[in-house]
Amino acid sequence: MSNASPGSLESVVIVGASSTLARAMAACFAARDHALVLAGRDTAELEVIAQDLRVRHARPCHVVHFDALDYGSHPGFVAQCAAALGAPPDGAVVCFGVLPAQEDAQEDFTVASRCLDTNYTGAMSVLERFAAVFEARGSGFLAAVSSVAGDRGRKSNYHYGAAKAALNVFLGGLQNRLHARGVSVTTIKPGFLDTKMTWGLDMPARLVTDPERAADMAVRAILKRRGVVYVPAYWRLIMGVICHIPGAVFKRLSL
Ligand SMILES: NC(=O)c1ccc[n+]([C@@H]2O[C@H](COP(=O)([O-])OP(=O)(O)OC[C@H]3O[C@@H](n4cnc5c(N)ncnc54)[C@H](OP(=O)(O)O)[C@@H]3O)[C@@H](O)[C@H]2O)c1
Repeated sequence: MSNASPGSLESVVIVGASSTLARAMAACFAARDHALVLAGRDTAELEVIAQDLRVRHARPCHVVHFDALDYGSHPGFVAQCAAALGAPPDGAVVCFGVLPAQEDAQEDFTVASRCLDTNYTGAMSVLERFAAVFEARGSGFLAAVSSVAGDRGRKSNYHYGAAKAALNVFLGGLQNRLHARGVSVTTIKPGFLDTKMTWGLDMPARLVTDPERAADMAVRAILKRRGVVYVPAYWRLIMGVICHIPGAVFKRLSL
């Protein structure tokens, strides 16, 4: 299952590591004895996060530049991660994402297109590059943070939801392709999280989860090689109900 030689640490690349949820996931992996690569656009900020993880967990923690929208750089990025670690990683977790205001996405094609290009195309592009390495090796784990928003189109966020729905289908197919090669693929579907992304948004307080708790649930699911995990688990029930509301009723709801 692991690429790690006896006595060496398993390793994971966190892609989009400046995200609030990703930072908490990186800490969970470090606490479980993983060497880390933190990847993202703001390498100065990532270096601060990396230094904190090195001090707290005494694990190797490297920083590599990554831009989800610079698709041409993704093959080289995967090679840079392997060079930093001294071998290809055991796993990769895609955490980046953007949540534009729905009205902005409706009115401005550039905003709508950036939402799809980042949340779906950027994730698909980098996951395929890691998938090729793990498939050839015959081991590894892949995961991406999607969203419950991808389960049903809602008028309040259907551009974001459409991109996450595409990601869900992609991850499902990738999981089926890689299963026979011993590579797991986990789709993480959080509900409301208290992060930078949702700062200032009106969310039902009882349904908001803190990023540390969400990260712990997500990392456990990844390491157990689960296919899909709702974070927290009660979102599976909530979305099951939402998906079964008849269309005639659903369009009258302010969801
Ligand atoms: N918060 C929620 O309620 C919620 C619910 C369901 C799912 N999610 C998903 O959870 C994941 C983590 O989000 P979060 O809640 O932790 O929000 P966040 O703190 O705002 O993190 C979003 C991250 O995406 C990165 N990013 C955006 N565009 C990028 C690009 N072109 N290249 C590389 N990185 C890019 C940002 O990096 P910069 O620092 O460079 O801007 C930032 O680190 C996302 O996929 C999000 O869709 C969040």
